[in-house]
Amino acid sequence: MTQQQKPRILIVEDDESMALCLGGSLDQLGYEVLGTVTTGEEAIAAVKEHLPDLVLMDVVLSGKMDGIAATEQIHLFSNVPVVYITGRTDIEQWQRAKITEPFGYILKPFELRELDVVVAAAFYKYQKEQEISSTKNRCYSCLEHFGGIVLHSDLDFNLFLVKGPVEHIMGYEPDQIMAGNPRMEDITHPEEVPLYSPEDLQKLKTVPNYMAVKEHRVVTRDNQVRWVRENVKNILDQYGKPASIERVIYDITDYKKVQDSCQGLQKQLLQSEKLASIGQLTVGVAHEINNPVGYISSNMEVLRQYVTGYTDVLKMAESLKKSVAENNMEQAKVIVQEMSKLEEEISLDYMMNDVDKLLQHTEMGIEKIRKVVMGLRTFSHRDTNMMEPTDIEGVLESVMAIVYNEIKYKAVIKREFTKLPLVHCNSQEIGQVFINLLINAVQAISDKGEITIKTFIEGNHVGVAVSDTGSGISPANMKSIFTPFFTTKEKGKGTGLGLSISYEIIKRHNGDILVESQPHVGTTFTVLLPLDVNA
Ligand SMILES: Nc1ncnc2c1ncn2[C@@H]1O[C@H](COP(=O)(O)OP(=O)(O)OP(=O)(O)O)[C@@H](O)[C@H]1O
Ligand SMILES: [Mg+2]
Repeated sequence: MTQQQKPRILIVEDDESMALCLGGSLDQLGYEVLGTVTTGEEAIAAVKEHLPDLVLMDVVLSGKMDGIAATEQIHLFSNVPVVYITGRTDIEQWQRAKITEPFGYILKPFELRELDVVVAAAFYKYQKEQEISSTKNRCYSCLEHFGGIVLHSDLDFNLFLVKGPVEHIMGYEPDQIMAGNPRMEDITHPEEVPLYSPEDLQKLKTVPNYMAVKEHRVVTRDNQVRWVRENVKNILDQYGKPASIERVIYDITDYKKVQDSCQGLQKQLLQSEKLASIGQLTVGVAHEINNPVGYISSNMEVLRQYVTGYTDVLKMAESLKKSVAENNMEQAKVIVQEMSKLEEEISLDYMMNDVDKLLQHTEMGIEKIRKVVMGLRTFSHRDTNMMEPTDIEGVLESVMAIVYNEIKYKAVIKREFTKLPLVHCNSQEIGQVFINLLINAVQAISDKGEITIKTFIEGNHVGVAVSDTGSGISPANMKSIFTPFFTTKEKGKGTGLGLSISYEIIKRHNGDILVESQPHVGTTFTVLLPLDVNA
């Protein structure tokens, strides 16, 4: 029916005068009367043939079939709206009529106004129903495009609608699922049962718009295991209370395969990050050792000159001793004069003072080299996969010795250490996490700032908090910082792997890594590691 066309109405009425009256009234109201039939059988045939826009159906008809039975038959092949005309209000009849979902009732005798209202309301209701149904169909078709299955159920998960590519994902027909053969619980992989926690179930029933997302496995009809993502939420009634449950299920098996291979890739990256940090470590260590080696060798050079001067003075002292023993005072006098001259030439007094300083300085350099080498030994542990009782503060010291070269010009390091018990962990990996956090902290400081390293015990965990007074992290970036390859650093400076690798390591240790940040104020990363009481 288009806007321009008059709506076409079929009258089913066996009372001739009533049929005439109805026809005249409808004509007056601007409808087109397709015709009048008097029996149920004729009504069915006329609907098939003329496709009316509405049927006015007398409930009581002569012949075998009454109006209600005729409507039931019509609804088997058409969803044409039917309005009943009835003179009686018999309860049983009323119940039967209701089941056929009529679009209205006209009680005989009726006035033109009543007929007008009921027919107009029926058309309006029909039009709205059509709109709702086409919107619904569009939604379902959209979901089908995205490959989603829709399951609607009551709050106890009794299904009343199943739509979408059920067969494609699970190997069953929607009707089989709808009939509970098999039940959704039976399709769910045994290791995933129960799918919903008691808390989920409670919230689905009581919290408006509560939604949960699950990724789980299903076992298909041919015993294949497939991964699905399920969005489950409650649908509200007109009072805003949860009334039913909607589950939308997507097949994510292929996505999972890609994710698995990505995890493999991430492991490889972890390895390459280890290499990268060993590279970083080597550069740091080289610099840290180079410096003391430089001044130790220059001290050695000066000391060599001093020793030459001393040797000359000692040789003269030897000759003097001999002259005095031989009682050759003349010669002794000459030697003493030459000695004084030499002492002046080589600045013996200054030399004697300086030797001590040079030796102290050299010892300091050697001590520094020793510390770096010690740190290196702790860091590059003989067995990289070994979990063992570890002195976390020792690891922190080693790591700081390694990255000190990067930090010293920009940040003052403050230590707020508590005495920590030994922690069961892989010291090399944990060291790598601290290197990443310290390097990030110093890179966040643009000019000069502070890095505070605090250790603490909290419940069953030891914590290490690395705080900086750097740029901070914007709320927009906060959600991405643990994502591999996310970096805000210029090309060549950051690969965006440090935090994702660190996260991976800490999670493997059953720990946690937390971040708090305020733009332009600073950032604190806190690593929590479980305390192993047996360690
Ligand atoms: N302490 C911090 N202060 C401010 N921003 C930080 C801090 N730590 C990390 N970020 C932000 O998180 C991003 C990701 O850090 P991540 O360590 O993973 O990678 P990266 O430092 O950029 O590169 P890489 O560590 O691989 O050299 C950084 O680019 C930076 O934007
Ligand atoms: Mg980093």
